[in-house]
Amino acid sequence: MPQSDRSITGFSKLSKRGKIKWIVENFFKDRESVKRELMSYWHSNEDQQKILDGFSENTITNFTMPYGVAPNFVINDDTYCIPMVIEESSVVAAASNAAKFWMSRGGFKAKVLSTIKIGQLHFTWTGNKELLQAEFPKIKSTLIASAESLTANMRQRGGGISDVEFLDLTSELDHFYQLKCSFETCDSMGANFINTILEKFGSTLKIYFQAHPQLNKDADLDIIMAILSNYTPDCLVRAEVSCPIKSLEGVAKNINPHNFAARFKTAIDIARIDPYRATTHNKGIFNGIDAVVLATGNDFRAIESCGHTYAARDGQYRSLSHCSLENGVFKFWLDIPLAVGTVGGLTSLHPMAKRSLELLGNPNAERLMEIIAVTGLAQNFGAIRSLVTTGIQRGHMKMHLLNILQQLEATEKEMKRAIVHFSNEIISFSNVRNFLEKMRADTKMTT
Ligand code: MEV
Repeated sequence: MPQSDRSITGFSKLSKRGKIKWIVENFFKDRESVKRELMSYWHSNEDQQKILDGFSENTITNFTMPYGVAPNFVINDDTYCIPMVIEESSVVAAASNAAKFWMSRGGFKAKVLSTIKIGQLHFTWTGNKELLQAEFPKIKSTLIASAESLTANMRQRGGGISDVEFLDLTSELDHFYQLKCSFETCDSMGANFINTILEKFGSTLKIYFQAHPQLNKDADLDIIMAILSNYTPDCLVRAEVSCPIKSLEGVAKNINPHNFAARFKTAIDIARIDPYRATTHNKGIFNGIDAVVLATGNDFRAIESCGHTYAARDGQYRSLSHCSLENGVFKFWLDIPLAVGTVGGLTSLHPMAKRSLELLGNPNAERLMEIIAVTGLAQNFGAIRSLVTTGIQRGHMKMHLLNILQQLEATEKEMKRAIVHFSNEIISFSNVRNFLEKMRADTKMTT
């Protein structure tokens, strides 16, 4: 059937069952079983399902992801069990291993370095630039005053508008100016707060220009857009681990601690100078970060886009983590901007996000920044440790083997024998299938 026959008007107005009916009738062969399958993922508790449906539009069912936990994370001398939502095997295991390794070496240290969020009002103005510059101090106080009722609650919590800067960008784009606004949003991520204020600034700016005798003359003001920036280099957290190099004894089999430390540092340095490696290296960091961001109901797209921009802040995309070996001490650290919240948004609406925060001891936003950064660092440590010693495939393939065995419906006993057999054999779907078939045939013959 051509795609054009599958269009529909008024889809969003259909009930959930109506939407499913239309979808299965138009896109699937095995209609009844697909319908049953889609509905099987509905939450058994209708109220919970309503909450989930409310997060998005045209929802027909739920897409489930594994929710794991990584225990034994010692961060600033407190011990955490960290919730992680991720579909990739080995990530939670690697985080847990790294946590355990550092637990006996002083644990992780983390520190929030700054908490400023950014929003921008983009506008064009065809008038006299000097006049606008001269008028800016008055404009700034008018803007801030116009948003007073909107910032009252946030100011009570210790936040609000921190600054409004005027940027002349006309050398890069004709008539283009910007108000770069800084905010403190306390324990909320602050997107709604920031966008509401920026839109208010836009309307205040228009009124200000209209009422001004000179700004109003023969020149056009056009408010192009008002929106937060997800690049928040001043909402920064540092996570680190350190220990005497000799205390790295036992970090991996068949390698002495000095050799390990040197190889580890070289791997980090490679990611600093080579964008191809840096991308994969940082992906590993985000394996940990995104998993906790998701589990706590925060916006992983915002966190990712910000992190990658930060990684390229000097003009080249580089590693987010660093390593030094000085005076016999191994130090490994990560600086990363993380604009997250522990109140508002999904954090308090999503039932599992609420549980994740409870599991973490209901942290404030700064504590959560520390926990997330530490998870990213632990993940990176685990990945580099494997890469410079055994290689990454050993751990990955073990999980892969279990997945294949599950697909082939292996029994517990068959699994145990396969794990032993494949500890020194190449793991592939056909090799595992052949092994199982042979084992099953041999068992039949002996019974
Ligand atoms: C895989 O998801 C992540 C790694 O590739 C990260 C890295 O190479 O550092 C293992």
